[in-house]
Amino acid sequence: MYFNELARKWDTDIRIERGKLLAKSIYKNIELKKDITALEIGCGTGLITMELREILKEIYCTDISKEMLKVLKEKIEKYKADNIHLINNEAVYKEEFYKYFDLIYSSMVFHHIEDIEKELCKIYKILKRNGILIIIDLDEDDGSFHKDEEEFRGYNGFNRETLKIILEKQRFKKIKFETVFRGEKKTKDKLIQYSLFLCIAKI
Ligand SMILES: C[S@@+](CC[C@H](N)C(=O)[O-])C[C@H]1O[C@@H](n2cnc3c(N)ncnc32)[C@H](O)[C@@H]1O
Repeated sequence: MYFNELARKWDTDIRIERGKLLAKSIYKNIELKKDITALEIGCGTGLITMELREILKEIYCTDISKEMLKVLKEKIEKYKADNIHLINNEAVYKEEFYKYFDLIYSSMVFHHIEDIEKELCKIYKILKRNGILIIIDLDEDDGSFHKDEEEFRGYNGFNRETLKIILEKQRFKKIKFETVFRGEKKTKDKLIQYSLFLCIAKI
């Protein structure tokens, strides 16, 4: 699996810096209360969650890559981050978690998810009423961003208006977008520019 192979090399300086900025963009968008129970979907090595651990009460983290989770587990132990819990990505959608989370966030994950409508439907069930969903992802691109990744089968980013319509169909409300990051990526044959949006939605 692509992300298992990448796990030990994931934390580059660029990604660490980007993770810090994205974590800031998340906490700017939520009311800073100590009692928020959150879930990060597709946490990877926890670059964002590790930045948010002191302002959120409990953070559950899920990922389909066992190796990514192993790296995060080591960080949890090293920094005694006892309010971060790893959870299986099927278990977290079970009935015991219905209306459980105040906040669900994810960064650079939705474009890897095959059926985002189904994912949003599952997310809706585990969010508390008045809960917040934050999706950070790639703005629609021409395929350049993932061009060198032969195994990539996901979306070439998202058109904001299309994503808004999909969210509304799954009963999310008060949907807003902002640009939270502009960056460059070196591909095999060129340097490309990309931007990331933060989408906030409520139920
Ligand atoms: C591009 S990485 C982003 C990692 C991390 N969010 C970050 O910003 O550093 C995408 C992550 O999403 C995970 N992933 C892909 N599809 C997923 C799914 N359906 N559910 C949960 N995690 C998923 C991958 O294993 C990988 O760790």
